[in-house]
Order: sequence, then C-alpha cells, then structure tokens
Amino acid sequence: MSAQPESVAEISEGLRAVGYLPGQSTALVSYLATRLGKPVLVEGPAGVGKTELAKSLSRYLDRRLVRLQCYEGLDEAKALYEWNYRKQLLRIQAEADGTGWDAVQDDIFGEEFLLSRPLMQAIATDDPVVLLIDEIDKTDQEFEAMLLELLSDFQITIPELGRIEARTHPVVLLTSNNTRELTEALKRRCLYLWLDYPTLEHELEIVRLHSPELDEAVARKLVEIVQLVRELDLKKPPSIAESIDWARALLLLGADDIDQQTFRETMSIIVKHRTDLDVVAERVGVKLGAKPAAA
Ligand SMILES: Nc1ncnc2c1ncn2[C@@H]1O[C@H](COP(=O)(O)OP(=O)(O)OP(=O)(O)O)[C@@H](O)[C@H]1O
Ligand SMILES: [Mg+2]
Repeated sequence: MSAQPESVAEISEGLRAVGYLPGQSTALVSYLATRLGKPVLVEGPAGVGKTELAKSLSRYLDRRLVRLQCYEGLDEAKALYEWNYRKQLLRIQAEADGTGWDAVQDDIFGEEFLLSRPLMQAIATDDPVVLLIDEIDKTDQEFEAMLLELLSDFQITIPELGRIEARTHPVVLLTSNNTRELTEALKRRCLYLWLDYPTLEHELEIVRLHSPELDEAVARKLVEIVQLVRELDLKKPPSIAESIDWARALLLLGADDIDQQTFRETMSIIVKHRTDLDVVAERVGVKLGAKPAAA
C-alpha cells in the first residue's frame, strides 16, 4: 500500500527520510500534487534536484517510478505505444489461406500486438506509479499537445482499440531546464515549482547529507565558495550536483582545509568552462590566498 501524506510537514519529513531535503515550496507543491492529483511542472537551472525530486517521491510514496526521458524528435511511437509490426506480420502469415481480412484485422489490432511505452505503462498499470517526464523542453510543441489529453484526463485514445483510462492515478512530474517557453495549455494543467539554487544553510545540509564524513568547517567553506562563485558572471554556474562532487573529492584527497593550492587543484570539479576557470581563479583564488593579518 503506498503512502498518502496527511500534511506538508509529513511529506517534508518523508522526503528527508529517503535522502532528499526539500525547501518549503518543494514540500508544499509535492503535498498538493499528491492530494489534488495534479501534475507538477518543475523548472530551474541544471543540477538543482528536479529529477531527484521525482525519484525521491517514488521512494517515499512507495510507488514504482516510470521515466520518460525526452529528446529532440521524440514521438508517440517511443513515448506512448506502437504496433508490433513484426508480430502482426507473422500472425497474418500464420493464418490459413482463405481467412477473411476482417477476421485477421480484428485479431492483429488487439492488446497482444501493442508495444507499450512509458506513458502507456503509467496509465495502464494496476499499481500506482510516479511518472517522470524528464526534460520536456527538449521536445516540440506537437508532443506537448499530445500530452494534454493524458495530463488532464489521465487517458489515452488508440484509434483501433478505443480509450484506455488510468486504473490508478499516477503522480506526475514534468521537468524543464527552460530552454524554450512551454505552452500555456500545458502550464494551465500543472502545478508549478521553480527550483532555484539553495540558500547557504540549505546547501550545507545537502552537502553534509551526501558526505557526512567531511569535516564540518571544510563543508561550510566549500559551500561559501560555491555561493561566491555563483555570483560571478559565468557561462555555467556550479549547481548542487557540483558541490556534492567537490565534497566527495575533497574527502578522498583528505583535504582538511580549502586553501589556495587545494582550490586551484580541484576547482575544475565545480567550474567546467575554459573562460569560467580563468574568471574564478582570478576572483576566488586570490581571495583565498590573502593571508589573515598576523595578530
Ligand atoms: N534537496 C536535495 N536534497 C538532497 N539531494 C539533492 C537535493 N537537490 C539536489 N540534490 C542532489 O543534486 C544532484 C543533482 O540533482 P538532479 O540530477 O535531480 O538535478 P536536475 O535538476 O535534474 O539537473 P538537470 O537539469 O541537469 O537534469 C543529485 O545528486 C541529487 O541527489
Ligand atoms: Mg534532471
């Protein structure tokens, strides 16, 4: 039996218990999504925990995760269903000569010949699932339009078979990196969650959760530096994912402080553009190098 949270505090606790530290709005929107049964559109920069939220909800709610990874050119056949042409063909060949077309046709357009893809699986399954439609902004507007029937009515229409309605109501999360504006029609059907870079204390807590062995003072300095780097005008500011990687690396290297040398040696873990590296080395590296005035 899957969990059904009774309050925002409860879902917040539940997510923490499975390793995800939600901000206030994340907990609130997640709660509303489970209670109102509306899909959630999660937008925000790369690496701030959009995909992880769906995975964590699936763990907490004890529902299977069905994931549709979007990409340019994704179509219905890969997202929804397609007919298993080879099997249909074999069936037609296996029919004795003289079988009327009508009989064969009835036969080969049955569920047995359907290859169901993630969206169909999420609808047709008997056990309640979390459906993650990841990086929806990579698809085109036609694909979005196709999703509308699914997101508002939780049903799919197959011309040859008829309507397939959801047997259980999936919890749906769509994520977007905002590379293009999504349609109003899609947004109207969803709750909206903007995930941004976390505050210092929140990020420290996340880093400590992922690397509990790292010295607290080092962890704090790490997060302070990352937040400082984010304020610079960079092509790609470091995300939570980079902070976590950096903490793991420092732990492996046995660093007990982030001095100028350690920073220079490891900064490519958080900054990944040639030009950004120069900016960061100059602005942050110099700051770290400044020795405190002797007492
Ligand atoms: N609130 C959080 N609590 C715990 N871990 C988090 C949290 N937010 C992010 N993380 C961690 O940060 C990493 C990046 O998260 P995730 O892959 O979900 O980012 P994303 O927003 O989907 O990025 P992208 O847009 O690049 O796909 C993961 O390892 C995840 O565990
Ligand atoms: Mg993601």
